[in-house]
Amino acid sequence: TFDIKTLHQQTGYFTYDSGFAATAACTSDITFIDGQEGVLLYRGYPIEQLAENSNFMEVSYLLLNGELPTSQEYDDFTSLITRHTMVHEKIRSFMKGFQYDAHPMAMMMSVVGSFAAFYHNDTDVNNPKDRHLAAIRLIAKMPTVAAAVYKNYIGQPIMYPNNSLNFTERLLHMMYGVPAEPYEVNPVAAKALDLLFILHADHEQNASTSTVRLVGSTGANPYASIAGGIASLWGPAHGGANEAVLNMLDEIGDVSQIDKFIAKAKDKDDPFRLMGFGHRVYKNFDPRATIIRKATHDVLDALGIDDPRLELAMKLEDIALKDPYFVERKLYPNVDFYSGIIYKALNIPVQMFTVMFALARTVGWTAQWLEQHETADTRIGRPRQVYRGAKKRDFVARHKR
Ligand code: ACO
Repeated sequence: TFDIKTLHQQTGYFTYDSGFAATAACTSDITFIDGQEGVLLYRGYPIEQLAENSNFMEVSYLLLNGELPTSQEYDDFTSLITRHTMVHEKIRSFMKGFQYDAHPMAMMMSVVGSFAAFYHNDTDVNNPKDRHLAAIRLIAKMPTVAAAVYKNYIGQPIMYPNNSLNFTERLLHMMYGVPAEPYEVNPVAAKALDLLFILHADHEQNASTSTVRLVGSTGANPYASIAGGIASLWGPAHGGANEAVLNMLDEIGDVSQIDKFIAKAKDKDDPFRLMGFGHRVYKNFDPRATIIRKATHDVLDALGIDDPRLELAMKLEDIALKDPYFVERKLYPNVDFYSGIIYKALNIPVQMFTVMFALARTVGWTAQWLEQHETADTRIGRPRQVYRGAKKRDFVARHKR
């Protein structure tokens, strides 16, 4: 619809690939996806096997280092992470300055960005020791930050990390415990969170990871790079989808209203989309959605919760998967279609869903950022454009316009 023979293009050929649907911007050894077959591998291991047999700390080690840890390596890694869970007291003061009802993602993005100010002495991206320290700090401190923004959001005092607990227990303790009062973490909740974190840990070059790599390609410090990833994850087309799914289910309200919303999603004049449906890469099914669908039933059963949203979600899925519009476009439920129902069952408010996602994806972001700096793939990211603006013209003085 426009003349693409512009001045810029006369300098050479390049592809116009809106949304980078067919452009690889890097090489990577970390995560493999086969969208046609519904396959997801972390370092070669199927996501189904990791979800069944592993835990988030072990998967983090795998993503960062390329191999599953031995027992000794696992113990060393978890104790290293545990040693870095505290945030500087000044960061706690910084957090207290936020408006109490600010969106938790706004706070998390700012706090992680502020790490670049608080930990500025060892952020030399060319120094492997500094890079490793930044990765450990980010993974270890993210639950502390996530819980702190939650406490800020509900107006309660920020908790210190309890280092006798494991990763997800510690997070739940900081979110729901109050200072000087005993708090028993529910093991079902801790296990469910651990599973969600495994499933969200990495997903190759999605929008937020590509953002981390693009920021990283300039040589910017790790905290700035990860803060960029958090900003990108916030959008409803990406990590904000699980929040959007729950809002959508509440808006639909009842099984009798499903047809109306399906019709809205199909109407091209209506911006409404079925949230939690569709994926850029998976054109068969999202293997994470299959795992989460089962886990949702298990968690709700184990916690004795009867959430009508689960029935609504299953009915919606059922109807959509039989509708030619969704079938022809290969639109299937993605990882976030069910994750919100589990988060809700764990008492995590909707505004915190994307924060939880960011916490888990921090492992993938840091693994990708480390890989970028450890391999030859450090060329600055610099996409081109197809220029559609005015042809060259002469300036006209303001009084003559
Ligand atoms: N509801 C209705 N129609 C949809 C949906 C949907 N959820 N998703 C895609 N479509 C339609 C589009 O309108 C388009 O139709 P057309 O060919 O008639 O124009 C066709 O399917 C292809 O869609 P695109 O937008 O080109 O697909 P793209 O790969 O760019 O987008 C995305 C993928 C962003 C995930 C999209 O499916 C979407 O917006 N889904 C809802 C949001 C969501 O669930 N996001 C989470 C993604 S997973 C994650 O980030 C963890």
